[in-house]
Amino acid sequence: MFRDDLLKGKKILITGGGTGLGKAMGRRYLELGAELVIFGRREEVLAETAREHSAETGGTVSYHRCDIRDPQAVDDMMEAIWAEGPLDILVNNAAGNFLAKAEELSPNAINAVLGIVLQGSAYCTLAAGKRWIAAGREGNVLSIVTTYAWTGSAYVLPSAMAKAGVLAMTQSLAVEWGPKGIRLNAIAPGPFPTEGAWSRLVPNKDLAEEFETRPPLGRPGRHDELAQLAVFLVADECGYINGECVTIDGGDWLKGAGQFSFLHRMSDADWDKMRPKRK
Ligand code: HXC
Ligand code: NAP
Repeated sequence: MFRDDLLKGKKILITGGGTGLGKAMGRRYLELGAELVIFGRREEVLAETAREHSAETGGTVSYHRCDIRDPQAVDDMMEAIWAEGPLDILVNNAAGNFLAKAEELSPNAINAVLGIVLQGSAYCTLAAGKRWIAAGREGNVLSIVTTYAWTGSAYVLPSAMAKAGVLAMTQSLAVEWGPKGIRLNAIAPGPFPTEGAWSRLVPNKDLAEEFETRPPLGRPGRHDELAQLAVFLVADECGYINGECVTIDGGDWLKGAGQFSFLHRMSDADWDKMRPKRK
């Protein structure tokens, strides 16, 4: 289904599309014929990504400096986008995160992450949704969450709270807006090295190595793998998938959850030695 014109005629907005996974998804969308709009707070980063994308794909890319924590700014930017033609697909990808012990978080620290991930995703989704509904148009929202949206995670409390909320938004609106022709899905990535995430979450080399090799597949994800899934879920060919969250983590979270997963440390000799005892 990944033919060159799969997304021709589709206008796609990716929040946080100037860096990391947002940039990788944007590039793939352009390769498959989409028109791309990216949001972020740093204009020079957006401009450079837009330049790179156009040079590499020949596609149409525009960008808007927009802090998605500001609902008025989000609405103004959506208005500016719609003035040049309606959007077809929104990708809620922008995020903020850092490692911290929960008891040391200030109110501002909590608000900084919830504001970007939870409120920001809601503002963008509602700003697009109300325009789709008013015009009687079909719409499509893909949100990038994490596997700890349902497991929770120590040391990233505001992010875990916010991602759980974005998943709940996806499931809630999939039902409420399904009858209006708007579908919403999510992707839960495992470890995908990016400058933004690695500098904040695994800044030391040993931690990074453990994080990257822990998945049962023994490696981190590749950006192109995530980008293909992001294409698959927004394509019209997948029009019956609604309210779903697809995990792409090499089996990482299941390994963390399985009670006996820790036995991967045992060698074959250890297993043989234990044979008489485990009958
Ligand atoms: C405790 C911290 C902190 C830390 C910041 N704060 N870092 N508190 N531990 N490590 C506190 C600050 O002291 C301040 O509180 C408050 O948070 C806001 O900080 P600012 O720097 O003023 O905020 P701002 O400039 O708005 O930046 C937001 C940010 C920043 C979230 C703090 O990191 C950011 O811009 N991030 C965007 C990109 C990003 O995070 N990418 C990674 C996504 S990765 P006080 O009280 O002092 O004012 C991801 C992966 C998930 O989500 C899963 C991985 C597998
Ligand atoms: P990243 O490069 O840091 O991406 C975050 C993007 O969000 C940046 O482009 C940033 O741009 C933008 N952003 C942050 N605050 C914003 C705001 N207030 N308004 C507008 N844009 C804002 O990190 P990444 O690793 O690619 O993460 C992308 C997504 O994948 C996130 O949702 C993250 O939670 C998710 N994810 C990543 C991993 C991983 O292993 N990398 C794993 C699970 C989930 P500006 O700073 O210029 O605004």
